[in-house]
Amino acid sequence: MNIDICQLVDLPKINDRRGNLTFVESGRHIPFDIRRVYYLYDVPGGAERGGHAHKKLHQLIIAMSGSFDIHLDDGHSKKVVHMNRSYYGLYVCPMIWREIDNFSSGAVCMVLASDYYEEEDYYREYAEFKKDVNKEAP
Ligand code: TYD
Repeated sequence: MNIDICQLVDLPKINDRRGNLTFVESGRHIPFDIRRVYYLYDVPGGAERGGHAHKKLHQLIIAMSGSFDIHLDDGHSKKVVHMNRSYYGLYVCPMIWREIDNFSSGAVCMVLASDYYEEEDYYREYAEFKKDVNKEAP
């Protein structure tokens, strides 16, 4: 998988005097059906999350509040995306190593995922991930 597939999705934003409303629809804004939602919050200053890749899982990551940085790595190329708006989602396809850091105080990181939690879908060791990336396209 190529890191260029991982792009920011500009989600709809309905604005009126009562505030903003944003929504995400499977198949319209993201190329997968949502089966699970989880979120990171009360992250202490300096902490890092992620540090893994998925074999098959698709995800959309949204900064619901505050900000953080997402570091993406497809085994060949890397990029960093700063997240600080609730109407942007970062689509992360399978076979991408990700690390999330630089959380602001009060940051909430919501993840929409294409499947239930399955530890077998994870690469927790970078070397193992890199070995399989090289098997696909050395
Ligand atoms: P972990 O993968 O370390 O979180 P992060 O991606 O933020 O670094 O997950 C922390 C723990 O939570 C780990 O024991 C697995 C568990 N977990 C679930 O039980 N269900 C889930 O949906 C997720 C994402 C994690």
